[in-house]
Amino acid sequence: MERLDGGTRYDLGRDFVGSARLNLQHYLWKETLGFDLHPRAEADNSSEGLRIADVGTGTGVFILSLARRLSPSCSFVGFDISDEQFPVPDGVPDNVAFRIADAMSDPPDEFIGQFDIVHLRLFFCVVEDNNPLPPLNFCLKLLKPGGFLQWDEYDQAYTKAYKLSPQAPIAAMTAMREGFSNGRQLGWITTLKDFCETHGVQDVECIRTGPPPDFLTAYTQMVLVLYLEHASLHDNSGNKEKGDSLRLLVAKCAEELKQGGVCRHWLQVVTGRKRF
Ligand SMILES: C[S@@+](CC[C@H](N)C(=O)[O-])C[C@H]1O[C@@H](n2cnc3c(N)ncnc32)[C@H](O)[C@@H]1O
Repeated sequence: MERLDGGTRYDLGRDFVGSARLNLQHYLWKETLGFDLHPRAEADNSSEGLRIADVGTGTGVFILSLARRLSPSCSFVGFDISDEQFPVPDGVPDNVAFRIADAMSDPPDEFIGQFDIVHLRLFFCVVEDNNPLPPLNFCLKLLKPGGFLQWDEYDQAYTKAYKLSPQAPIAAMTAMREGFSNGRQLGWITTLKDFCETHGVQDVECIRTGPPPDFLTAYTQMVLVLYLEHASLHDNSGNKEKGDSLRLLVAKCAEELKQGGVCRHWLQVVTGRKRF
């Protein structure tokens, strides 16, 4: 961006764009699913004193949205490995707190067994070696026995380039999806329900759903913004050529989007209760 007063170039950076994308994405999910917290969690405006955690909270958009509609007697903690995207403390209600913690290890002692509900979303970039056990264990350690777990992911195996109209071009969109999957082990997402059942979670249910066609343009725009963030990362690590080729791919995808080429997303929500 050029400044009007002198031409200094500002780079708003990945944090700014990434935070904006996460905040907007939350509302796409909520509109698609019809809930933030699954009704099986039994958290509504008559619930008093619930303690709710969000793991890998990012901007905290999920718990802030919950805090707005649940009783002020409920309390909320957002955990993340970094505080970079946490909201300004003065701007959040008194019953919402944020803590730095690594979900690939143990939670801080003071939080063990303290929560009625634990939520985590979009750990596809965090899970290593196709093994979701470390973050699952982190969440189970936070929960009281019988506490409610909800884990939301895009089911990447079903997220594909898709034609909203028969003549829509999708070559760039297909290349983008293939580039995303390259080298990532994401099979754990499709089998997460079974994994939870065999690792300490009972009454496990899994919802898989695609946004309606009229919503796919907004989802695709969101994923293209993510690619622009990745392009900035390449620039910042000195690989300007890679950044530029990614931006070119995004520009081609944006052209396809105008003609009805989209990325069909699949949302997966796994819920259950910590075994007694
Ligand atoms: C894709 S973002 C999702 C943010 C949020 N859950 C949402 O849906 O808006 C992934 C988040 O996980 C956090 N994260 C990455 N590694 C983590 C770890 N080992 N422990 C805790 N959080 C982690 C990142 O800092 C980031 O905020």
